Amino acid sequence: MPHQPFACSMEQSTPRTMAATPWLLLLLLCLAAGGVLQARAQPDSKGFISIDCGLPGLKGYANETTKLSYATDAGFTDAGTNHNISAEYVTPSMARSWYNVRSFPDGARNCYTLRSIEPGLKYLVRARFKYGNYDGLDRPPVFDLYVGVNFWTVVNMTTRGLTLIEEAIVVVPDDYVQVCLINTGAGTPFISGIDLRPLKKTLYPQATAAQGLVLLARFNFGPTDETAIVRYPDDPHDRVWFPWVDAANLAEITTKNRVQNVDNDLFEAPTAVMQTAVRPRNASRNIEFYWEAEAQPNDPSPGYIAIMHFSELQLLPDKAVREFYVNLNGKPWYPEGYSPQYLYTGATYNTVPSRHSRYNISINATANSTLPPIINAVEIFSVIPTTIIATDSKDVSAIMAIKAKYQVKKNWMGDPCVPKTMAWDSLTCSYAVASAPRIISVNLSSSGLSGDISSSFANLKAVQYLDLSKNKLMSSIPESLSSLPSLAVLDLSGNQLNGSIPSGLLKRVQDGSLTLRYGNNPNLCTNENSCQPTKTKRNSKRAIYIAVPVVLLVVIVSVTVLLLCLLKRKRHGSMNNSVKPQNETTTSYALGSDVGGDSSLRLENRRFTYKDLERITNNFQLVLGRGGFGYVYDGFLEDGTQVAVKLRSHSSSQGVKEFLAEAQILTRIHHKNLVSMIGYCKDGEYMALVYEYMSEGTLQEHISGNKHKRECLPWRQRLRIALESAQGLEYLHKGCNPPLIHRDVKATNILLNSRLEAKIADFGLSKAFNGDSDTHVSTNYIVGTPGYVDPEYQATMQPTAKSDVYSFGVVLLELVTGKPAILREPVHVSIIQWARQQLARGNIEDVVDARMCGDYDVNGVWKAADIALKCTAQASLQRPTMTDVVAQLHECVELEKGHVGGDTNSSSYTSGNVNSSTLSYGAYATNQSADVSQNSDAFEMQHNFNRVPTMPTGPAAR
Ligand SMILES: *[C@@H]1O[C@H](CO)[C@@H](O)[C@H](O)[C@H]1NC(C)=O
Ligand SMILES: *[C@@H]1O[C@H](CO)[C@@H](O)[C@H](O)[C@H]1NC(C)=O
Ligand SMILES: *[C@@H]1O[C@H](CO)[C@@H](O)[C@H](O)[C@H]1NC(C)=O
Ligand SMILES: *[C@@H]1O[C@H](CO)[C@@H](O)[C@H](O)[C@H]1NC(C)=O
Repeated sequence: MPHQPFACSMEQSTPRTMAATPWLLLLLLCLAAGGVLQARAQPDSKGFISIDCGLPGLKGYANETTKLSYATDAGFTDAGTNHNISAEYVTPSMARSWYNVRSFPDGARNCYTLRSIEPGLKYLVRARFKYGNYDGLDRPPVFDLYVGVNFWTVVNMTTRGLTLIEEAIVVVPDDYVQVCLINTGAGTPFISGIDLRPLKKTLYPQATAAQGLVLLARFNFGPTDETAIVRYPDDPHDRVWFPWVDAANLAEITTKNRVQNVDNDLFEAPTAVMQTAVRPRNASRNIEFYWEAEAQPNDPSPGYIAIMHFSELQLLPDKAVREFYVNLNGKPWYPEGYSPQYLYTGATYNTVPSRHSRYNISINATANSTLPPIINAVEIFSVIPTTIIATDSKDVSAIMAIKAKYQVKKNWMGDPCVPKTMAWDSLTCSYAVASAPRIISVNLSSSGLSGDISSSFANLKAVQYLDLSKNKLMSSIPESLSSLPSLAVLDLSGNQLNGSIPSGLLKRVQDGSLTLRYGNNPNLCTNENSCQPTKTKRNSKRAIYIAVPVVLLVVIVSVTVLLLCLLKRKRHGSMNNSVKPQNETTTSYALGSDVGGDSSLRLENRRFTYKDLERITNNFQLVLGRGGFGYVYDGFLEDGTQVAVKLRSHSSSQGVKEFLAEAQILTRIHHKNLVSMIGYCKDGEYMALVYEYMSEGTLQEHISGNKHKRECLPWRQRLRIALESAQGLEYLHKGCNPPLIHRDVKATNILLNSRLEAKIADFGLSKAFNGDSDTHVSTNYIVGTPGYVDPEYQATMQPTAKSDVYSFGVVLLELVTGKPAILREPVHVSIIQWARQQLARGNIEDVVDARMCGDYDVNGVWKAADIALKCTAQASLQRPTMTDVVAQLHECVELEKGHVGGDTNSSSYTSGNVNSSTLSYGAYATNQSADVSQNSDAFEMQHNFNRVPTMPTGPAAR
């Protein structure tokens, strides 16, 4: 894969977190859906898509109870074969959609594409499976399910019984979403049905652009009839609520009154569900249930989100109080008692996924309460990362249109470039560090293409190499191909093309930016094969005569090596083209460009007014932290995305200049290990930056163990954090041109998100430095933090990339030792000096953080310590580059992979008491890894008093 140097400032990144006003989008969706029943393969008036997979023919049907229309899958996939399930599995009461399946015996990946949906909206996606021995083999398969390019779950038909419904709530970034079945070698994937339901952006705030929710259970408490399932139309979002019936332990409470949602309700539990609740039959008992974590192949201890729905259904007499605690594993999940409100919905829920191997929930009355606890409904989800970026959506649309037009089969299924192992044959993609993959070459030579040249080729805007030779293409060459900015080679030889060569292409040939091959097209007008040029082509005639000798020459010398050179040059060329002159950017205020490059990119970031910020932060209610610049506040965007808002205080020691410098840098850099900016505010004297929310705070808090008295980080996690931070720095040094030097790398500037992924933050001191050598502009004063500052920089006043390497070495030592950068006891000494002395004695155990309990690969820790010492070498020349560091840390990770943890416990939860009032949803995984308790179990309340849900507050900080 070619890896080009690029100015990071020019990386286009698809803005995934932001979108226009959700209401506007919803409105558009309604307008688009337009009330009329659309043709199949389209959402209906509610935005619903319901597919009965494997239904023969083209005609769908409506369910007479729900009035939902089921479409055949003809418009959604072009692979697989349909089958009926065996007669012995069909029961009279069974819904019709289970009768048939589509199975996919061929290809590793097969997908359904659901189109005409609104990018950036939240969707509930449901996949339904019933094997029913459709193939007569009696061998139910196991395969993987993906939503788009992100792993969703393993579909294991052998464990989960005969009928399986998988549901995910995800933010869909593009105007289509794919549901893909991946053959993992354990049987032929198949599917019975797919449902898609749009959700308001504000619903389920835990589902974000980066994180999806996978349903484990959704229960309605109260009904005594096990078949009383609530779904559409009683739930307008068509969630399926199964009754939880346990008459022995739980007594039902019901009302005929409507239970209303509060304003801006985050979950909109339907009244039909909320009208029933349960309390313990024995009033002195608690409501109890549990579930167990289900290990996933890519996540051995997935995080869980629980949402419990409450509403008071009885009008309580004056003195009566119903107040209760929700406890997780014996500890109150939220410190205060909760009192449900009469006939209004309310919920308790966590925003940060909780990670345990088992979740024992008990709901007990507070001391003040005169009434037993109740519960109306519960939803439990595991979280999946949805951070893998799919191929640029315009490229996808174009190549899908090309696929459809020419009926290309090959392995053309799912995303064209992602994952790399399943990238489409005949395509080459570029994978930039921080932006969507692009299709850069298409080789459809000898592929039996017929008809005209699809105009969609001209929509592959990043394509550099396009080979359509030796097909049966007819008609003329589209002029639009000449507008492909990066096209360097176009091979159309060996077809039946006619007309003349478009002047735009000839111009490109003349100026040397394009190699064009068009031989063996007997009807094409060229000077050696003249024909009647069409009227519109007249002005290009002269160009043809001039150009053709050049063309021939190029054709003759088109040796691969030269092509490669050309390709390379072209890439550089296009890069330069995208740099706008600086003075073109004067329309806006100070976010200009001194980092060098295209400042048009700032449009990707959203601009907020001060009023917006007031709304987002709920009047600056919750402070996450503070620094020299002012406070950082907790906030929520309208789509529910949690953000951190850094507001510059007027008395700030960080000047306007630094503030803008950071904003400016952040608009240009996009990397998964750098904290990303969502937007900024410059409204009168107010200045603020809005960042992605990093729920787990700073690395420093984790190393020191100060944060919520959490357990200490295991080595494996520390290593990952080190690697990720190193990758972030490497990107600044190598991915940016000129390189960016952070100048204040330290453990408090490395932030962790809910998955404990590390991102470098605080670019207020960062600077871009020109020049290839390590000699740099000197500044008048030293910046940085004591304990982390490169001594050479201190001596020379010239910061270099190696200064960051030095500071990173200190961070790495902190990770290994669990000690701060400057030790206070027994004597005041730098961590570097201390570690050097200790390691010189050869005993790693004295150095390694004792809280890791010896659970690490000793060679890996030695190696990491060694890297740290090299990074902190006195002379910068002896220090490795960040690229070396990344490579070395990768090796440590490999060493650690070979290390089998000494304290994996698999039995601690199997002995748990299973009393009759417990309910288990879990699969009984035998191979659970130890509970790492890495996340705070902060549990939030949705208070309904005054019918205004407050933003979830609570102990979760940053
Ligand atoms: C219609 O939908 C309901 C609810 O999902 C289901 O129970 C019923 O079997 C369906 N009817 C048919 C004919 O599929
Ligand atoms: C599927 O489930 C069965 C039964 O629980 C289990 O034995 C098997 O290992 C699972 N297969 C996979 C690939 O997870
Ligand atoms: C409720 O349960 C929690 C956790 O077991 C316990 O700490 C608390 O004391 C209980 N409260 C009452 C009033 O019993
Ligand atoms: C119990 O009630 C008293 C008096 O109303 C109140 O001060 C106290 O905060 C309540 N305690 C709890 C745990 O709700």
